[in-house]
Amino acid sequence: MHPNPESATTRRDFLQATAAVAALASVGAPSIVLGASPFTHMALPWGESALAPVIGAQTVGIHHGKHHKAYVDNLNNLVKGTEFEGQPLERVVMATAGKADRQALFNNAGQIWNHDFYWHSLKPGGGGKPPAALAARIDESFGSFEEFRKQFAAMTVSQFGSGWGWLVADSAGKLKVVKTGNAEVPMTQGLKPLLTIDVWEHAYYLDYQNRRADYVNAVIDKLLDWEFAVRNLG
Ligand SMILES: [Fe+2]
Repeated sequence: MHPNPESATTRRDFLQATAAVAALASVGAPSIVLGASPFTHMALPWGESALAPVIGAQTVGIHHGKHHKAYVDNLNNLVKGTEFEGQPLERVVMATAGKADRQALFNNAGQIWNHDFYWHSLKPGGGGKPPAALAARIDESFGSFEEFRKQFAAMTVSQFGSGWGWLVADSAGKLKVVKTGNAEVPMTQGLKPLLTIDVWEHAYYLDYQNRRADYVNAVIDKLLDWEFAVRNLG
């Protein structure tokens, strides 16, 4: 059953969504551009085989072409006839977060947002040390790049079940590493995402089977796009 657009519940949801988007703006929108519905399945920034051998072409092809696409198709079906039709993806994410009766909308919207962010977090020939300005921020927040690297890998690997590891900036500008489960996003905690690593099994199982730590370490050392993190930091 679709909600009555004139209902008090819908008006309340709309106002909450507006406040949520304002909160997101204060966190800082990411440098990727995300549209309104109908939501698009973003093209990869590089070819399917470009991340090999760290992440193989088959993994990327299934992950992007099947899993990610399914979230887009699901959300476009779910928003039909609701107040979220025509709304920006961020509004759907922030307005449905934490609401049991909006779980399916949140799960699919969050997973589109997270995957768009993940693909942009990776590039062939990435990894290594960040640019000087960001390296200085990392030193301030973690003590050293080596300490950051250790904490980021450990935090990401420790996510129980499906989810995401993140480098984020808090409201005071301090950099932190956090993890989120399933489709959860850092913005709902007032954190600005800079980079992410997908640790759903579909992201690594064909290449690494149960060796999640090997996948995470390889992504950090060989694929992270530090320029994307710099753009997100602003
Ligand atoms: Fe994924």
